[in-house]
Amino acid sequence: MSKLYITGQNRLSGSVCVQGAKNSALPILAATVLTKGESVLYHCPDLTDVEASMCILRWLGCRASRDSDTVTVRCDGVSRNDIPDELMRKTRGSLAFLGAVLAASGKVRITLPGGCQIGQRPIDLHLKSLRRLGAVIRERHGWLECRAPHGLKGADIALPFPSVGATEAVMLAACTASGTTVLTNAAREPEITDLADFLNRCGAKIDGAGESELVIEGVGELRGCDHAIIPDRIAAATLITCAAVTGSDITLKGVIHSHLAGILPPFEDAGCRFTAHKNELRVSAPQRLRSMKIVRTMPYPGFPTDAQAPLLAAAATADGTTVMIENIFENRYRHVSELTRMGADIKTEGKFALVEGVPRLYGASVEAADLRGAAALAAAGLCAEGKTELCGVQYLDRGYERFEQVLTELGADIVRV
Ligand code: UD1
Repeated sequence: MSKLYITGQNRLSGSVCVQGAKNSALPILAATVLTKGESVLYHCPDLTDVEASMCILRWLGCRASRDSDTVTVRCDGVSRNDIPDELMRKTRGSLAFLGAVLAASGKVRITLPGGCQIGQRPIDLHLKSLRRLGAVIRERHGWLECRAPHGLKGADIALPFPSVGATEAVMLAACTASGTTVLTNAAREPEITDLADFLNRCGAKIDGAGESELVIEGVGELRGCDHAIIPDRIAAATLITCAAVTGSDITLKGVIHSHLAGILPPFEDAGCRFTAHKNELRVSAPQRLRSMKIVRTMPYPGFPTDAQAPLLAAAATADGTTVMIENIFENRYRHVSELTRMGADIKTEGKFALVEGVPRLYGASVEAADLRGAAALAAAGLCAEGKTELCGVQYLDRGYERFEQVLTELGADIVRV
């Protein structure tokens, strides 16, 4: 298992291109099983989660290869409809194959997906929605067996919560179903819009992506297309955090400003200044951050749960008290005990975290328990006095492309051992 050794307190400077979005790439890769012919995905991040989805595609009989940041997939129907447990467990993104393979072959047999342990992460909304489209689902011995004996048929579906995963499941299952599906209270995340853009380019008819109501008119067949994955707003938020905690001035290249609208306000409250120019964003952080008062994680366009852990690391070093309210996942403070080892003063109770900012964090040996928690600990290490030994780097590799190289280019002192 590799570790990162981070020597803190280096100022960062310069510019960096933001990687493609993991949470777009994963459902889009699953969507390719619905297509005939070749799809070329540009700006597709090189991550272990993406590699895991490509392995699933190969298992299903598709061809998938990478050349630099371009992934090419060729699927002319799937040759099997089961996905073994060891492949399902590699990434949470494997769940997107449920709706996609069901639609492609009328049957799918999978186990529950892996991914970060940030809460119970039930899939009841996925299953209820697929049943509304005509799926018959049986859960036995840890396997989910899903069939569409009379084909999938468009339906009206209302989600009680705008779940990202359930919205994707409906889009994937409904775009080649017979008839029209109307999904209300759909998730509005940019990654949903990216999936809709990809599917529409393949010939699907999905209207309303980015809004709460999606109308999906089923079409007969989809063909592969060329598509550029959107920039990763959570990777951008993580880089902003790294600049914020080190009092640095850096420029992010290749961002979509509107996607960051819900992310910047707490950083602005903390005293960071942002200058937008074309698709670049310059971040200028003060010597010491101010507290952010109250931050709530919310579905898009609110502050994203995926940026909560990095922001908490920034709040830990800010001047004053910050209250974080985690509204999406019930077990997403696993980085707190490790931040405490570095000198942070944070107390959690249920969905609340009370952060009393301290003037300085100190390097320590810490272990990440999930992807975004790993990013939070790395950011804390960047501003801490002394050396931080970060274990659990495999989580970081799920979602951040060339993490230590990117930060080293900006002036950080990070070594992977
Ligand atoms: C996706 C992202 C994850 C991000 C999250 C919220 C991927 C691989 N993961 O996760 O990085 O943090 O969106 O932006 O894209 N829920 C249910 N039943 C369901 C589905 C969800 O109760 O069937 C609940 C969840 O427990 C959670 C909330 O809904 O409390 C949000 O979950 P959801 O939006 O579905 O997140 P994921 O798709 O798991």
